[in-house]
Amino acid sequence: MKKKILFVCLGNICRSPAAEGVFLNLIKKNNLEDQFYIDSAGTGGWHVGHQADERMRIAAQKRGINIESIARKITPDDFRIFDLILTMDNQNLLETNSLAKNAGLHSFEKIRPILSYSMSTKSLEVPDPYYGGENGFEKVLDLLEESCQRLLETICVQG
Ligand code: 4NP
Repeated sequence: MKKKILFVCLGNICRSPAAEGVFLNLIKKNNLEDQFYIDSAGTGGWHVGHQADERMRIAAQKRGINIESIARKITPDDFRIFDLILTMDNQNLLETNSLAKNAGLHSFEKIRPILSYSMSTKSLEVPDPYYGGENGFEKVLDLLEESCQRLLETICVQG
């Protein structure tokens, strides 16, 4: 059975597509692609159908990471399909938990902040880079590369 992971942010054009790209790149490098199903979604719908933000795509490309995802909004089915739903900040976590409740999910264990896997920061929030400068995109990628590496290690150990 494939492990199914959904990354969630607000617009699904910066942080969660970057997390998806980072994790896909990691499993490709480790020859684990056939063991995972990876996707991303947003709690907001403004950018549905759009490619990821060009600034994020360029910053990721410089690290050898392709971001190919097209923005979509999270759906009630996602709570049934995915084994792990990883949010980017406190607002995402609150909204995702509330959507899960409306979708009839009883256990919220599978929903958690991506940074709960990080060992480099105590913060549970990946800062939203959308209205900031170029540095913000690098910071997001630094946080996501480290936390996705820990996430993969955790899954490989715990299953
Ligand atoms: P994301 O960033 O949640 O990381 O995709 C944002 C993208 C767009 C907006 C906010 C955050 N927006 O307000 O349009």
